[in-house]
Amino acid sequence: MSAGVRRVAFVCLGNICRSPTADVVMAALLERAGVDGVSVESCGTADWHVGGPMDRRTAAVLDDAGYDPSRHRARQFGPSWFDHDLILTMDATNHADVLAMLPADRHDRVRLFRSFDPEVDRTGPIPDVPDPWSGGEAGFLEVLAIVERSCRVLLSELVETA
Ligand code: 4NP
Repeated sequence: MSAGVRRVAFVCLGNICRSPTADVVMAALLERAGVDGVSVESCGTADWHVGGPMDRRTAAVLDDAGYDPSRHRARQFGPSWFDHDLILTMDATNHADVLAMLPADRHDRVRLFRSFDPEVDRTGPIPDVPDPWSGGEAGFLEVLAIVERSCRVLLSELVETA
């Protein structure tokens, strides 16, 4: 990762499930680690839920795990996000959609979120964070597990390159 990352954006489709989970978990990890000067935010490529809260199933899983989901309001990716130092996309479609909008000289700021997942084989393709929206509770718990272990790696890389 390049040095001096100050602003991190997590991007999914609706900004009510996966990227808000990463946003809330990463903010908590940064706070607990006493890291100042790195801000995290999240947004979706779609505008469907803009201004609204998280999906209630995402909020319940976060709440049960000791995080605060209450302040989230959904936002949409657009030019105001182009200055973020690191843009982490939750799946291959989000990734392609972000690259299609972002000026080419900033494409190196965009990475798939699971490139930080310690359980992913780095020699193969990087998998998606599975979209839990149309499934059951297990999918929301899986998203949280992926996010927690990936954000721990992200935190250590941010601290190393600070
Ligand atoms: P997210 O999940 O991209 O992780 O927030 C979804 C949320 C809403 C929809 C799809 C995925 N939707 O079709 O409304």
